[in-house]
Amino acid sequence: MGGVTAPVLLLLGRGKDSNSERGVDCPGDLPAPSDPGLVERAAAAKAALGDRVFVLGHHYQRDEVIQFADVTGDSFKLAREAAARPDAEFIVFCGVHFMAESADILTTEAQRVVLPDLAAGCSMADMAVLEQVEQCWDVLSDLGIADDVVPVTYMNSSADIKGFVGRNGGVVCTSSNAKRALDWAYAKGEKVLFLPDQHLGRNTAVLEMGYSLDDCVLYDPHKPNGGLTDQQLRDAKMILWRGHCSVHGRFTLENVLAMREQVPGVNILVHPECRHEVVTAADYVGSTEYIIKKLEAAEPGSAWAVGTELNLVRRLAAAHPDKQVMFLEKTVCYCSTMNRIDLPHLVWALEELVAGRVPNQITVDPDTAHHARVALDQMLALP
Ligand code: 13P
Ligand code: SF4
Repeated sequence: MGGVTAPVLLLLGRGKDSNSERGVDCPGDLPAPSDPGLVERAAAAKAALGDRVFVLGHHYQRDEVIQFADVTGDSFKLAREAAARPDAEFIVFCGVHFMAESADILTTEAQRVVLPDLAAGCSMADMAVLEQVEQCWDVLSDLGIADDVVPVTYMNSSADIKGFVGRNGGVVCTSSNAKRALDWAYAKGEKVLFLPDQHLGRNTAVLEMGYSLDDCVLYDPHKPNGGLTDQQLRDAKMILWRGHCSVHGRFTLENVLAMREQVPGVNILVHPECRHEVVTAADYVGSTEYIIKKLEAAEPGSAWAVGTELNLVRRLAAAHPDKQVMFLEKTVCYCSTMNRIDLPHLVWALEELVAGRVPNQITVDPDTAHHARVALDQMLALP
């Protein structure tokens, strides 16, 4: 029987400061948000650094930050871009902590990865802690089924969890390649342990791979045996970790139905981190890159209600004035941790680099990095 660890309360910016939800102080002088010279200062610092710095921007970042990104993308594209820039001395990651960790793992020893605000964590990633996952694996081992299970972790997980997955013959996936990763995993083993996003795991298994909801069980790390019977664990094809995204988890079936009533003919386009009933009721489902491409290819005059992070939806609405692009939910729904990276933090980070100091460097210990890299390389090599 596996034990139960104490609940973990959103250790955002994990490993740095357990109070980081309330913010982590920058060890230098952060410029005031009202400083009218911030744009010039960022541009000047970036120009002074030249090719020594490469700035990555996730699609959920603020406009004020995105304007300084050398490349924008979803987490899969950004991981590849980081790996493809061995000459940049500094990678400034405008995204969240797990993305910067992955960049550190995929870049060379000499390169330094900087996260402009250490409080930019991810509540979903913090829902799977190594100790809990090891306890779950002990449960599966005690049942004699661990050898049949291939662990698959979503990119949105800590380096510790990726290391666990690499050590145990598994793979990392993103929302762009989850089906390919699961095809690979089921060719290798009978069952999958999917971490930490239950929704991406369930949606991919049921809607893209033909498994039924009954083939899936939900493992709750806060309950003995995950809250499941031995028989349920033995019968399951897909063991889903009880984690979710607090941003995408807000969209409901009622949102979809209300939108269809208000805007006849509307296309509902959502991210696979949304709940199963939302994804099932939607017209199109895909990663942030997919969402962007879908809207680019859409007919002028068509109407779209999009269920993903609000910074991206607002940018898409501005980029496509010939189409009606709406947010699927009525209330504001930014990712608060992505939003921690603002222009003052970016200016501060770039100016520190110009001054010869490396602020907020994200490093992963060599043993964890080695095993996490095995699981990341396996992802990059998926057919
Ligand atoms: P993608 O970038 O893989 O679409 O994931 C969305 C997300 O929630 C990132 O934090
Ligand atoms: Fe994490 Fe969700 Fe924010 Fe992405 S959008 S960083 S998964 S909380």
